[in-house]
Parts: sequence; C-alpha cells; structure tokens
Amino acid sequence: MTALDTSQIPARFQTVMTSLATAGAQLAGLVAKGPLAGALGAGVGENTDGDQQKALDVMADEMFAEALKTAGVRHYASEEQDSVVTLDPTGDLALAIDPLDGSSNIDVNVTIGTIFSILPAADTPEASFLRPAADQVAAGYIAFGPQCLMAVTFGDGTQLYVLDPDTNSFVLVESRMSLPTSAKEFSINSSNRRHWTKPVLAYVEENEAGETGAKGKNMNFRWVGSLVAETHRILTRGGTFLYPSDARPKYENGRLRMVYEVAPMAFLVEQAGGKATDGKAPILSLTAAELHERRPFVFGSSEEVDRIAELHG
Ligand code: AHG
Ligand code: MN
Ligand code: MN
Repeated sequence: MTALDTSQIPARFQTVMTSLATAGAQLAGLVAKGPLAGALGAGVGENTDGDQQKALDVMADEMFAEALKTAGVRHYASEEQDSVVTLDPTGDLALAIDPLDGSSNIDVNVTIGTIFSILPAADTPEASFLRPAADQVAAGYIAFGPQCLMAVTFGDGTQLYVLDPDTNSFVLVESRMSLPTSAKEFSINSSNRRHWTKPVLAYVEENEAGETGAKGKNMNFRWVGSLVAETHRILTRGGTFLYPSDARPKYENGRLRMVYEVAPMAFLVEQAGGKATDGKAPILSLTAAELHERRPFVFGSSEEVDRIAELHG
C-alpha cells in the first residue's frame, strides 16, 4: 500500500484518500513505463460522450474502481462507465472520477492526470451526483508529470502532496495553496476561434492586444490539452482557463463534464482563492441534470474571471 501523510486529512476521508493515493501511485508507475507497458494510447472503444477510449483510460478506471471497493465508496461515477456503479453497499461516500484526463497526451510524454470529486452518498446512485456542486465534501487531482503530485481540498483550503519515489509515499508540501488574484497567462484552444461567442472573442482579443489595448498589460498564452496540467499551473502561478460553449455541433456547453471535471476543479480553485464560473453563474451554485453533461468552464485568477463575467454582461 502506498503511504499518504494523513496528518492534515479529516478522519472520515483517510481511508478513501489512502486508496486513491495507492491507485494513483500504481498508475504513475504505469505512465512512467510508457511504451514498455504496452500500447497505452491505443484506441479500444468509445465512452458515453462519444469520446474514443484509450487503453490507459480503461486501465485507470479499473485500477481506481478496484482500489475503492473497500474504501467506503458506495456510489462510483466514472467518465468511462455509462452509469453509476455500486462499489461498497455499506459505504457512506459517493465518488465521481475522470480516471485519466488528457488522454491525447498519453503517447507524447506530456502531463496527464486523474480528477475526483467526493460527495456524501445519497439514497439512489444518481442522486449522489445530480445535486449542487457545493455539496462536494472533497475534490482533487493527481498529476502524472515530472513529479507525481496530488492537490486536494476538504473544504478548508487546497493542500498539495508530492509522491516521493524513494519511499513511495505522498508527502504534504503545502497545506494552503494560494492563487494570485491577477494573471499574466491565459489558456484556451484558439483553433476554435471562428466558433466562439462575442464575449470570449473580446476577452482573447483584449489579451492579445496586451499593453497596446484596454488591458494595459501583456498576457502570455499556454495550452497543454490536459485540464489537470492547466489547473496545476494556474493554482501555482495564476492565470485563466476557458473551455467555453462554441458554435460547433455538440459544443453548446463546451467540452468538459460537470460532475467529474468542472465541479471538482471549481472547488479546488475556489479553496485556493480563485474563481470558477460557466460565464454566467459560479460553478458551485450549479446542479448537474445528467451524469455526463458538459458545462462551459472559466476559472482562475479572480480579477480575470470577474472581467470575463463582465464581458458576458
Ligand atoms: P479527457 O482526456 O478526460 O477526455 O479530457 C480531455 C479534456 C481536457 O483535459 C482538456 O482540457 C480538453 O479536453 C482538451 O480539449 P481539446 O482537445 O478540444 O483542446
Ligand atoms: Mn478529462
Ligand atoms: Mn478522461
């Protein structure tokens, strides 16, 4: 079993967090082997949203479901499964997961991750997840990059752990991450520019104009293609991220899924002093109507998120 420093983890989450850490470290080992572990990025099927599933998407889902069987998780909702699975009928927690985020980066040795959201289990499997995002009791991500690290919140700040490869143990390195209120970087997939709405285009043009425009300062640009990597960078040095709705078919609510991508990242970001919205309302005030529904997502440094909201009128 992988060790996790549980000194700052509330008692009711220590078992589930240790199980997540164990599966996370196991997955980090597999990611580090890359092609030596087989064709991890090979296409193997399609998920509910019509995304192609890669071999590692399915393997990661199996690893987490297995590790969480004895961790008090009654309801398990995964990007890779059509409906909610009951893992531990006596458990009092529900856990939503994107087992492998950033799957287009598997084969190119760029940071990928796992995102999770924890809620109190409700009476029915679906009711555990189709509720206000503010009902989350914990949320986090594990990033598989130059370091394997885990950011997590239990509603009292955002903590950061790093996996020490010498001891196979997650060590607490920051008990309160704090996101700068102003930003020097923004992130959006600009290949979709021609499909954007006016407020999104206005925000990007303002950034591109830099010190010659209304903003009066230059902005740098980054796009990794892994939400986990993007969020970690923003939590560390500020910035903004946008995956807005656009005019492409199926993108009327953007690309990212509310229950296991948007809601947990919003919780983590707000607990670090940032903001998260769908352009109109704070993410944490919203309720998912369907397990795999998408939600436009804007988050990051508060001054910038306020500006984007202002442009949306
Ligand atoms: P996933 O690999 O779980 O399907 O998620 C990929 C997501 C997210 O990580 C990233 O921000 C976004 O998709 C990238 O989308 P584009 O390919 O449209 O840029
Ligand atoms: Mn994802
Ligand atoms: Mn995924």
